Amino acid sequence: MAVGDGVMKPIGVLYATRSGHTRRIADHIANELHERGFEAEAKNVGAEAAPLDPSHYSAAILAASVHYGQHASEMVEFVKNRRSELDKIPSAFISVTLSEAGVERPESSPQERARFAADTQRVIEKFFEETEWRPARVKAVAGALLYTKYNLLLRFVMKYMAKNAHADTDTSRDHDYTDWLTLDRFVDEFAQQLISPAAV
Ligand SMILES: Cc1cc2nc3c(=O)[nH]c(=O)nc-3n(C[C@H](O)[C@H](O)[C@H](O)COP(=O)(O)O)c2cc1C
Repeated sequence: MAVGDGVMKPIGVLYATRSGHTRRIADHIANELHERGFEAEAKNVGAEAAPLDPSHYSAAILAASVHYGQHASEMVEFVKNRRSELDKIPSAFISVTLSEAGVERPESSPQERARFAADTQRVIEKFFEETEWRPARVKAVAGALLYTKYNLLLRFVMKYMAKNAHADTDTSRDHDYTDWLTLDRFVDEFAQQLISPAAV
């Protein structure tokens, strides 16, 4: 079927965010899908007037950031409440963390990389156990330190966390660790699966 011809339901890019970085990721994915000829909309699972319904979508990419070792609670609730509908459509989960930035940082030692990767996997596994949802595709994405958006106390806390994670501690500006090109490849693969499921 030709994509973007109004026959297919849109693809939902459903996200949960605290400081806005995951919204940026979701908007980027929706734009990339548009460029590939798909109808797509980015929606905040915690901020819509009416609860979001996965059955309105032909496929869904869910994205949530991690704070203090937990994915956003509104995403956990959304998936728990809507798992049966999510299971009926192609879906993927994107986990946005600072630990993934440690995995991807070229200067990380093999030991550090392994530790960061274990952290990333642990929170993802916790999310799947909590929600009992097992999407076919999962992607860990490095997030951002948005110091300029944090209040004074949070800036202090995050500088400390960043130091431990060997991330940037210059609080006078924001630091974006997302690998946007790799994210685009992920979108490509997801889109390809929708066009020809057997080929992937
Ligand atoms: C208060 C706070 C706690 C965080 N805790 C974690 C954490 O436990 N593990 C982690 O890998 N990243 C952690 N991060 C990093 C966030 O996942 C990262 O900043 C992400 O880009 C936030 O996305 P958002 O703006 O969409 O919420 C934390 C960030 C903040 C501000």
